[in-house]
Amino acid sequence: MGLRLKMIPSGFPALLRRKMKSKVVVYGVVLVVFLLACTAAAAAAAITISRKHQHRASCDVFAAGSWVVDESFDGVALLRMWSGKKVMFVGDSLALNQYESLLCMLHAAAPNARTTVTPASGKIDPSTTARFEELNVTIVYYLSHYLVDIVNERAGRVLKLDAIDQGRDWLGADVLVFDSWHWWPRSGPTQPWDFIQEGNTMVKDMDRTQAFTKALNTWARWVDANLVQASTRVFFQGISPSHYRGQDWGASARATCMGETAPVNGTAAGAGAGAYPGGPIPQQAILRGVLAGMAKPVYLLDFTYLSQLRKDAHPTKYNGGIFGEDCTHWCVAGLPDTWNVLFYAALTGQQ
Ligand SMILES: *[C@@H]1O[C@H](CO)[C@@H](O)[C@H](O)[C@H]1NC(C)=O
Ligand SMILES: *[C@@H]1O[C@H](CO)[C@@H](O)[C@H](O)[C@H]1NC(C)=O
Repeated sequence: MGLRLKMIPSGFPALLRRKMKSKVVVYGVVLVVFLLACTAAAAAAAITISRKHQHRASCDVFAAGSWVVDESFDGVALLRMWSGKKVMFVGDSLALNQYESLLCMLHAAAPNARTTVTPASGKIDPSTTARFEELNVTIVYYLSHYLVDIVNERAGRVLKLDAIDQGRDWLGADVLVFDSWHWWPRSGPTQPWDFIQEGNTMVKDMDRTQAFTKALNTWARWVDANLVQASTRVFFQGISPSHYRGQDWGASARATCMGETAPVNGTAAGAGAGAYPGGPIPQQAILRGVLAGMAKPVYLLDFTYLSQLRKDAHPTKYNGGIFGEDCTHWCVAGLPDTWNVLFYAALTGQQ
């Protein structure tokens, strides 16, 4: 969804202080409850899945489980691992959600670390950088709603399904985390383009899932052309679910995330018994298909299912007053902290 500046604090340090005062109760995923293949050790700390375990037991930390309270994430180890490196989140405000959570968690782990934020105002515009000075860790949020370019031309604002010139700004990152989808269905005044172009063909509109698929393939070609030889590690944030339709979790059709205080009891991703009643998001399969066809290995941070269970984790009306109810973004501290624990597991498990 949109980048809404009122959500953005006037400075990260202030944000971090405020966040740290609130009690950080991190829900972790119990990895083993439904998967015999996962070892107990891996379950106890999502962050210690070794390569051996991952390959032998093929524990899919995203596929199944329920929600329990947990507090474990070694932020200092992560900062050390990223010493001298640049980590970049590229995407919409759901990528920003994960970025902000990560900064808060790193700050909680190393509260005395010297940090600088650019721009100093803390505004997201359009690439925001936080640096942990001593360890020289650079963490960037780069705003891109569609991953492909939007170019101002005489005709108007043109969404270029086959161009990623902005990608030059992403080169040089050691870790890249992408996301996209939430802006694709937008129409009306909040749609930030007037035409869609592919090759020499310009159209006023087209099926948005089809457009998303084309753009995702363009993105995949860009990654393969630019990063196959590079040591850059590439991640894609799975599509983040919203909770505006109560029937998706077995409540009345008029229910939204407002007033929800507990997760849905989950058992297994996908369809069938124990699945989230709303089922998978159709664009998940498209994303998986595109990633599977790439030369560069891209790790899917498959957060969709575990987030579908968290109808209780949205800001609702406590979002700065932009929407009546925000059932799209996630509170921080909150669900994105768990995303980052799993991100950490993915980072360390692959090494
Ligand atoms: C800090 O890290 C960046 C990469 O993010 C690197 O280019 C630079 O040389 C490093 N600086 C120092 C002083 O190590
Ligand atoms: C979820 O499971 C717990 C434990 O089995 C149970 O107490 C609770 O009522 C369940 N909640 C729902 C919404 O089914």
